[in-house]
Amino acid sequence: MADRLAQDRTIRSEAIKRAFGRVPRHAFVPGASIEAAYEDRAIVIKAEGGVTLSSASQPAIVGTMLEQLDVSEGMAVLEVGTGSGYNAALVAEIVGSSGRVVTIEIDPDVAEQARRNLRAIGYEQVHVLVGDAFAGCAEEAPYDRVIVTTGVPDLSLAWIEQLSEGGIIVAPIRLNSLQLSAALVKLDAHRLVSKSLYGCGFSPIRGEWAKAEPPVVLSPEIEKVQRIWQAQRWNEFDDFSVVAERSPNETASRHFTFSVEPR
Ligand SMILES: C[S@@+](CC[C@H](N)C(=O)[O-])C[C@H]1O[C@@H](n2cnc3c(N)ncnc32)[C@H](O)[C@@H]1O
Repeated sequence: MADRLAQDRTIRSEAIKRAFGRVPRHAFVPGASIEAAYEDRAIVIKAEGGVTLSSASQPAIVGTMLEQLDVSEGMAVLEVGTGSGYNAALVAEIVGSSGRVVTIEIDPDVAEQARRNLRAIGYEQVHVLVGDAFAGCAEEAPYDRVIVTTGVPDLSLAWIEQLSEGGIIVAPIRLNSLQLSAALVKLDAHRLVSKSLYGCGFSPIRGEWAKAEPPVVLSPEIEKVQRIWQAQRWNEFDDFSVVAERSPNETASRHFTFSVEPR
């Protein structure tokens, strides 16, 4: 799987390739066959009434988001949405014993299974917390990186406060009808600018933010981005940046406003 993802340039850095080679995905999807575990597909790990509540994400998007995260040895990382625990194990491989990984899962059963999966293959240093990750985890802040693995209508103020200045948050953000995995660099507590964008399709966040409205972006650029998304010409996203700014009309569920600008 690591070779396939490297061949098509989904993963480019040696550290990420090494992590994909070392972490056995089948250990995180016990219900799936070995063949299925190494296909480039998401695997549902919990569903209720036909609705997917948790899944191990498609390896290609996992690799893409890790490349966007630009994570390296010794860093402290917060993950939102533990799911299977597979991505947390990959991050733990990359940051090594001098780094830290904290991951938060809203569903206690899913969190317990992830904890078991991680422990079974020696990643007990990953700190799995149960709760709504909307609030982040201030006790273990600051983080050099934050990775959100569930669809969000906004950036939580807590995540940005807990992220170091110059740090990067990668999050699948809904902008109008699109969902974009944006790697946003924190310039200061009020402003973040993306350095890369990819199209993605995560299930929406559960809990506190489940009913929040996605932001409406009004700029001519969003229409261009929409056309690129429809044609799936992902490399053309490089011509645009998403800018997130603290909202002047902040409410409990709206913390940032978003715009799309040419680079
Ligand atoms: C796509 S899965 C995560 C994939 C995971 N990172 C992996 O490697 O398998 C999204 C996860 O986010 C969890 N989730 C949804 N809303 C959440 C919230 N508010 N706080 C914490 N976890 C949440 C879901 O229960 C689900 O397990």
